Amino acid sequence: MKTLNTIKAMREALSPYRQANKRIALVPTMGNLHAGHLSLVEEALKQADIVVTTIFVNPMQFGVNEDLDSYPRTLDADKQKLASAGNHFLLTPSVTEVYPNGMNQTTVHVPGCTECLCGEKRPGHFDGVSTVVTKLFNMIQPDVAVFGKKDYQQLTTIRKMVVDLCFPIEIIGVETGREADDLAMSSRNGYLSGPERTKAPALYQALNQVRSTLLAGETSYSKMLNTAQQSLDEAGFIADYLEIRDADTLETVSKNSARLVILGAAFMGKTRLIDNLTVELNLSKV
Ligand code: PAJ
Repeated sequence: MKTLNTIKAMREALSPYRQANKRIALVPTMGNLHAGHLSLVEEALKQADIVVTTIFVNPMQFGVNEDLDSYPRTLDADKQKLASAGNHFLLTPSVTEVYPNGMNQTTVHVPGCTECLCGEKRPGHFDGVSTVVTKLFNMIQPDVAVFGKKDYQQLTTIRKMVVDLCFPIEIIGVETGREADDLAMSSRNGYLSGPERTKAPALYQALNQVRSTLLAGETSYSKMLNTAQQSLDEAGFIADYLEIRDADTLETVSKNSARLVILGAAFMGKTRLIDNLTVELNLSKV
């Protein structure tokens, strides 16, 4: 695996593959890689001839009181994991290369699906994500880019952005990688104390409880969400949001939506965790 630190070196390294019409995949990350990230690389290797992973802790997507400074940076371990996974190129650009004009710069805003859920709770977050992903798309010019369903609203936003801005890039979503107790893998799990880690799977369990109830034919969303909220409270979580939305648009659900997503964000101590589960309803039965 080759590691490159500049956009120019990255473009030069990719040039022969582009000329040979090789298919190029991009896996954008912020590093501190776990098995969930590596499953994206694995999928990218199935989708393309050449896989480029990027590691860039993007300041623009962190709020003022968020964990930009303490975000785990583990480059040496990340490189080893990527090399073992068969990743071809790693790009680790500097903040000045990604933001040559500082924060006085062009910004990408995706309307609609970014105003609710995490967008409401973390103002500016998705502008930071869509802006940096646009930059990464322009740096790498991939044929395909791979994202995790773990960050469901992020994936929905990127899918819309690619359509809105006519990017000739196929977007692939990969299932959420989970620990043995179903906690969604996340770089932020490392912030949890021992007792907090033991309680953390309650977020998945609460979403799964809603999913089972929906599948059993319950139609009162408020009833299901209240029960799930109680389970979160009992486990010691402080919920940020818990919602059922249309799985494609993230709009509030009309009675005839068949593809739903249950999304939750909750604080365990100081650590904010997110998770989601999709549900396909057979409406003829409901
Ligand atoms: P990061 O949190 O590092 O995640 C990088 C990619 O890995 C994202 O597509 C995310 O959805 C995916 N991912 C994280 N945990 C996962 C899991 N348990 N299972 C499967 N995929 C998982 O998301 C970002 O970085 C940034 O916002 C980024 C897109 C890189 C833009 O800065």
